[in-house]
Amino acid sequence: LSHKPLKKIVLIGSGNVATHLAKQFAEKGFVIRQVYSRTIENARFLALRYNALAINALHEVETDADMYVFSVSDNALFQLVEELKINTGIVLHTSGAIGIDVLKKFKNYGVFYPLQTFSKNIEINFKEVPLLIEANTSENLRIIENLALKFTPYVHNITSEQRHKVHLAAVFACNFTNYMYRISEKILNENNLSFDILKPLILQTAKKIETHLPSHVQTGPAHRNDNTVIEKHLSMLNEQADRALIYKILSEQIKRNNIKNE
Ligand SMILES: NC(=O)c1ccc[n+]([C@@H]2O[C@H](COP(=O)([O-])OP(=O)(O)OC[C@H]3O[C@@H](n4cnc5c(N)ncnc54)[C@H](OP(=O)(O)O)[C@@H]3O)[C@@H](O)[C@H]2O)c1
Repeated sequence: LSHKPLKKIVLIGSGNVATHLAKQFAEKGFVIRQVYSRTIENARFLALRYNALAINALHEVETDADMYVFSVSDNALFQLVEELKINTGIVLHTSGAIGIDVLKKFKNYGVFYPLQTFSKNIEINFKEVPLLIEANTSENLRIIENLALKFTPYVHNITSEQRHKVHLAAVFACNFTNYMYRISEKILNENNLSFDILKPLILQTAKKIETHLPSHVQTGPAHRNDNTVIEKHLSMLNEQADRALIYKILSEQIKRNNIKNE
């Protein structure tokens, strides 16, 4: 394997990550031979762009590809690994939450986890995306590292346990933050206001962490221990128990951490 250049790729999955990876691989001169997806229309949609064959059954996978990349929902990964019968090439998965060992039935395998939020139709500058990699042997690590360096200079060789912790941190930093935006959007829309009004604040909040630690730039009523404002906000939320609960938990955590920092 080590002497053979990686060229022919089979993508297993046609969702957000597979769509972005396909574009990157194609731009770098790799040949995408097949795209698998559970729903054949989705496989076709991606495969067509790269002259690849769309399939929706893993027994149809070419067995002589150089690389097989799983970018499927975490729940489906275990079952699909079972179904993939190949004995050449290197097999990768792109999950933050699943250990490398899920691929242990293969001879050559590893992890290629891009630490970014991908949506199919939103452009990403891949040169700024950290890639968290892992491999089953030092030789495969070298191969995956060389591959990753074609995508980005930010390549980190870390263990599955570390990757799971990064993923957990990312859920707080990205997914929960976005959910907070969604609550903000609802509150504004319910009051005939546009979400646009918050955009400068959101962007500045994110920008601050380029130069400061989050713990040093916390602001807001809970940080100031402004209990009158907190009570007022809670009464404004009294119709929405779930939003009030989120507000309460986060305010209490912010207050508690302030006390600890003193
Ligand atoms: N999105 C991100 O921001 C991001 C970032 C880094 C890593 N990841 C990881 O990358 C992987 C893929 O994520 P994604 O966002 O690209 O997912 P996605 O857009 O939801 O795509 C999931 C793919 O898995 C297929 N699939 C879902 N359930 C299946 C099942 N039961 N059996 C067979 N195939 C099934 C889907 O097929 P059909 O839709 O055609 O039915 C689709 O091709 C995940 O491990 C995720 O943790 C995601």
